[in-house]
Amino acid sequence: MNSPYTIKDRSGIVTGAASGIGRATAVHLARMDARVALVDKDGHGLEKTRLLIEEKNSFSPLVFESDVTQETAVREVVAETVAQFGAVDFLINSAGILRRTAFFEIPPAEWDLVMNVNLRAAFLYCQAVAPHMVDRGRGAIINVASLAGRSCSILGGAHYTTSKHALIGLSRHLARELSSKGLRINAFCPGATLTPMTLNVSSDEEIEAVATTIPRGRWASPEEQAAVIGFLVSDAAVNITGACIDSNGGALMV
Ligand SMILES: NC(=O)c1ccc[n+]([C@@H]2O[C@H](COP(=O)([O-])OP(=O)(O)OC[C@H]3O[C@@H](n4cnc5c(N)ncnc54)[C@H](O)[C@@H]3O)[C@@H](O)[C@H]2O)c1
Repeated sequence: MNSPYTIKDRSGIVTGAASGIGRATAVHLARMDARVALVDKDGHGLEKTRLLIEEKNSFSPLVFESDVTQETAVREVVAETVAQFGAVDFLINSAGILRRTAFFEIPPAEWDLVMNVNLRAAFLYCQAVAPHMVDRGRGAIINVASLAGRSCSILGGAHYTTSKHALIGLSRHLARELSSKGLRINAFCPGATLTPMTLNVSSDEEIEAVATTIPRGRWASPEEQAAVIGFLVSDAAVNITGACIDSNGGALMV
C-alpha cells in the first residue's frame, strides 16, 4: 500500500520559487518525486532552483520567469503547465513581498503593490487553477500567509499584515465553496524564517531579538517550512481544508 505521505508523480505549480520558502518547497516536492513548475520574476534565482532540482532528480522542472500579478501571464503559466504535465494536482502560492513602512508614511502605490503581490496574485492563480481541479475532482492549494495574518507583523507594515489576514480569508472562503468538489485549500502561516525577505530588512541584533520572542528560541529554516507544505500537499492531509496551519516555533502563544 502506498504511504499517504507520498506525492510521487503528482504535478503542480510553486510561485516565488526563486528564493526562500518557495525555492525550498519546490526542491522538497521534487525530492518527493513530484513534477514542479517554478514561477518567479527573478530569472537568476529560478535558474539556481532548477539546478538544485536537477542535481538530485532525473527530471527537469518547468520554469516560468513570470510576474504573478499579471493576469494574462498567470493564465498562460497554468495552461502551459496543464499542457506539459497533463494535470495540476497542487498549487503553492508563495510569492510575496515585505515592506516595513510606518503606517502614516505608506504611499498608496506601495499599499497597492503589497496587496497585488501578496493577495491579488493568489486570487488570480486560484481562479486559474481551480476549474481544472474541479474537473478532475481533486487538488490541493496552499496559500503561504504568515504569522502576520494570525496576529500582527513584527517585521512588516500595516499593508503586509492586512494582506496576510486577507489571504487567510480567501483560503477559508475557497475551502467553503470548493471542498465538496474534492479540493483542499489551506493557509500556511510561517513565523520568522531565515530567507532573503527577512535577512534583507533585519540587522543581526534584530534577528537575535526576534529569536528571544520565540518559545523555540530560534528562527525556522526554509526547509523546515517546506516539509510542512509537503505534508499539506499529500493525502496524509486529506481531511485538512479551510485551516490555518501554523509553523512558528510557538510564537503565536506569546
Ligand atoms: N521569511 C519569513 O519569515 C516569512 C514569514 C511568514 C510568511 N512568509 C511568506 O512566505 C512567502 C515566501 O517568503 P520568503 O521569505 O521565501 O521570501 P523571499 O523574498 O525569499 O521569496 C519571495 C519570492 O517571491 C518572488 N516575487 C515577489 N514578487 C513577485 C512577482 N510580482 N512575481 C513573481 N515573483 C515575485 C521574489 O522574486 C522571491 O523569489 C511570502 O509570501 C512571505 O510573505 C515569510
